[in-house]
Amino acid sequence: MQNNQNSSPQNLPIGVFDSGVGGLTVLKVLANHLPDEHFLYLGDSARLPYGTKSPQTIRKYSEQALGFLADMGVKALVIACNSASSQFRESHFRDIPVENVIDPGAVTALRATQGRIGILGTRATVTSKVYESALLELAQSKNRKVEVFAAAAPLFVPLAEEGWIDDPITNLIVFRYLQPLIQQNIDTLILGCTHYPILRASIQRAVGNSVSLIDSGEALAENLRKKFDNQVLFRRNPAEDLGGSEQSKSPDPNLNPQSNRRIDILSTEESSTFSSMARRLLGEKRIDSIKVVNL
Ligand code: DGL
Repeated sequence: MQNNQNSSPQNLPIGVFDSGVGGLTVLKVLANHLPDEHFLYLGDSARLPYGTKSPQTIRKYSEQALGFLADMGVKALVIACNSASSQFRESHFRDIPVENVIDPGAVTALRATQGRIGILGTRATVTSKVYESALLELAQSKNRKVEVFAAAAPLFVPLAEEGWIDDPITNLIVFRYLQPLIQQNIDTLILGCTHYPILRASIQRAVGNSVSLIDSGEALAENLRKKFDNQVLFRRNPAEDLGGSEQSKSPDPNLNPQSNRRIDILSTEESSTFSSMARRLLGEKRIDSIKVVNL
């Protein structure tokens, strides 16, 4: 991992940030959709959770995280955190394009729904009502009628950070949090926190297979691809690396072998659960480095 300020703009990495491991679910989708691009991920684990904090604090932390990634040298920023996205809605940070998770999630949910959408998120996201606003505005522009129901599930974040995936205790908690939404007969459920896809199997079981689960990663990757096309931001020479002195990884056979792209991961807290979740979600071979930083 190095400061990338001297690289040509197209060859800079895409900066992705979340409060912890949740954004790695978005990074995984982005890395699959953009196989030639470098990624620099920042998990602000030292200050996790964001979702229980005030709007002002979340905004301040988000700007610090975005500023840190911008200083490292990135060509685009992805706020892979719904709580942070709910407080930072601008399309740019210091002239760098910013992609959030709310808008793509709303677009995908509206495409999938027959009219009854559930939103599951942190307290901060649910209280901000960003999804309701985005969905209702979008529905109006398409002349559609939708009903939206939201519930906060604050215990999901520590369960996901702890890696208690599909655990009996997790299943019980998931079932309890989802009851109010199930009672509203939702047909579509937005996973409005990037930690929640980690618990996807439990959540799907609780709501039943007839309910579509919306994870904004896919739609977000599509948006980013379009943005790159318009602004000629795609990496120009995938065979060229960033000129770093660190040892290169062995290429992932599932990815373009010519690509030689890097995935570097930063965390604000020394944490073995963060590192093992990163390896579990992305696969050992895809990660070039995991380091601790101070914002
Ligand atoms: N993963 C984040 C989100 O999407 C935040 C979880 C938290 O820190 O509370 O909201």
